[in-house]
Amino acid sequence: MSSLLAVLDAIESEPAAVALRGRSYELLGDLSGRTVVDAGCGSGRAVAELAQHGAHAVGVDLDPDMIAVARRRWPAGEFHVGDAAELPLETGSATCYRADKVLHLLDDPARAVDEARRVLAPGGRAVLIGQDWDLIAIDSDQSETTRRLVHAKADSLPSPRVARRYRNLLLDAGFTDPVVEVHTAMFTDDRAIAVLRRITDDESWLAEQAERARRNRIFVAVPIFLVAARR
Ligand SMILES: C[S@@+](CC[C@H](N)C(=O)[O-])C[C@H]1O[C@@H](n2cnc3c(N)ncnc32)[C@H](O)[C@@H]1O
Repeated sequence: MSSLLAVLDAIESEPAAVALRGRSYELLGDLSGRTVVDAGCGSGRAVAELAQHGAHAVGVDLDPDMIAVARRRWPAGEFHVGDAAELPLETGSATCYRADKVLHLLDDPARAVDEARRVLAPGGRAVLIGQDWDLIAIDSDQSETTRRLVHAKADSLPSPRVARRYRNLLLDAGFTDPVVEVHTAMFTDDRAIAVLRRITDDESWLAEQAERARRNRIFVAVPIFLVAARR
């Protein structure tokens, strides 16, 4: 958990990440007084931000250690240990749902989307956010190795290409009026290294990237998919 937490902490205050979260809140619509579920909430920043927007935000995460961090950081927030595929909420009790960088970790993302539909009241809105792990552009002198490492990372995940399926998953679950956006996260300095360390621990390949960062020649681009739809 600690290495994931370190990466999340490093990226969540990046202006692009702040803007993306903000966009996800916008797509959820009017938040004031609404119950919003953040499935796979991690250390809870979005829950805290949603509360600042006047929502009754509920964070759910499978990892008890992550929930402990969230509770420590945001003592006023409501957090539960729970599975995105079996949310600890009554049927129809929420108005909004979001899952940010979560569905790729699930063996059966469709179950989580069905569960989102179950907890949402009619007219409620869901937003799914995440990257497609097969679509990461990295400039490297070792293009074959780079392709192999990116694909190996993707293959290690339960659902690496789920982000390109968000729209279809929502439609298949009975959601309507999907809005699809693709935003690109770009890294052109040594902050990219923390991202690349999530892909590989191949130190010789990472050394080339670190050297590129030193020479101002590192370039990593990651398309982030964001799909909103109505229950
Ligand atoms: C990459 S983190 C993203 C955290 C947060 N959404 C964010 O954007 O910073 C993925 C989170 O999903 C959680 N997670 C993984 N599988 C889950 C599941 N089946 N149900 C709920 N949470 C899960 C992990 O514990 C982790 O905190």
